[in-house]
Amino acid sequence: PHFKHWLPVTRAPGSWLVCSPGRKPHLIYLQPHDYWHVVPAAPAGYWVDSFEITIIHEAAQARAHLPVAARCAVLGEPNVALDGFAPNNPQAVLDYLHWQRSYKTPYELAMMRIASRIGARAHRAAELAFRAGKGEFDIHMAYLASARQTDNELPYGNIIALNQHGAILHYTDLAHAPPAQMHSFLIDAGASFHGYASDITRTYAADGAGEFAALVAAVDAAQQGFCARVRAGQSYPDLHLHAHHVLAGVLREHGFIRMSAESAVESGLSSTFFPHGLGHPIGLQVHDVAGFQASENGGTLPRPAGHPYLRMTRALEPGMVMTIEPGLYFIDLLLAKLREGPLAGEVDWTRVDAFRRYGGIRIEDDVACTAGAPENLTREAFAQLT
Ligand code: GLY
Ligand code: MN
Ligand code: MN
Repeated sequence: PHFKHWLPVTRAPGSWLVCSPGRKPHLIYLQPHDYWHVVPAAPAGYWVDSFEITIIHEAAQARAHLPVAARCAVLGEPNVALDGFAPNNPQAVLDYLHWQRSYKTPYELAMMRIASRIGARAHRAAELAFRAGKGEFDIHMAYLASARQTDNELPYGNIIALNQHGAILHYTDLAHAPPAQMHSFLIDAGASFHGYASDITRTYAADGAGEFAALVAAVDAAQQGFCARVRAGQSYPDLHLHAHHVLAGVLREHGFIRMSAESAVESGLSSTFFPHGLGHPIGLQVHDVAGFQASENGGTLPRPAGHPYLRMTRALEPGMVMTIEPGLYFIDLLLAKLREGPLAGEVDWTRVDAFRRYGGIRIEDDVACTAGAPENLTREAFAQLT
């Protein structure tokens, strides 16, 4: 990520970028003499004039073009070490760079808008495949074909879950045959552009007029309310707790629980149905850096007690891009624990049991915080589809 933060080159292993004060950044670009593998193409594009470029043909040749190691912060994985020149990854430098990566530049936002558009287009193709009765494998193929990206190019492995598979948060199997009866479809799938990610989830009911469709609509409305709160100064952990209250209200309104939303959150019951964090920073990495960082000098902002999976504890600021991905799930493991505990009487088990076949619901958008109204990269990308 540190490399592709500087230039839109994502496949040039063995290359180096040297940044020295007062000089053009120097790209040492490896084009190996190799007839077994594809060799990276010569640097080309609008960006090349912004770099001093040296082509090398063997990884070790980079050494001659690198500065004096003792005066460098060398960022990278241990396996890129050259003779006398090894990554030292100084924490202070990493903290500073990670902190700055929280604030997306106009260029970065442009890349993320494109990644969002590719993802939205492919989501539409996947939905059509679902409506046509396809199984998970074929829906996945429809997604890849529309995105024109292979699994290796996607920012993360697609989650393509029909029926109760939606209750497995990281379901990455792909059943080859469609189920005998189609109830629901949860798809969590993104796309990449110039090293930037989108991360998008949608949930569809097979029966558009049924009880599950009504629950999806309620979660979708709640999610849009959370997206509207992506504003400068908003504490993200507070937004996560707010989401618990709103979703607990949905559980009550739809007849799953009898207790008040407040009690459902205070007792921890809401976490049975919403057992993950509201979202995370996104950018060069799907789960981007610095979600817990206290300042550009490092430090950690702890999670609120009882919310071990939250990935962002900072207040929002202009330039940050966050996912907003609330969910409600019917997870056998967590429901069994609830059923054995003191709150079992607060649950309408007949209704809960009737919803297990749908798996769960997650709606996920990528939302940029600005100085004013939020920019929902995902919804705008869907709206731009023709
Ligand atoms: N697709 C991974 C996530 O939503 O965080
Ligand atoms: Mn996500
Ligand atoms: Mn996701």
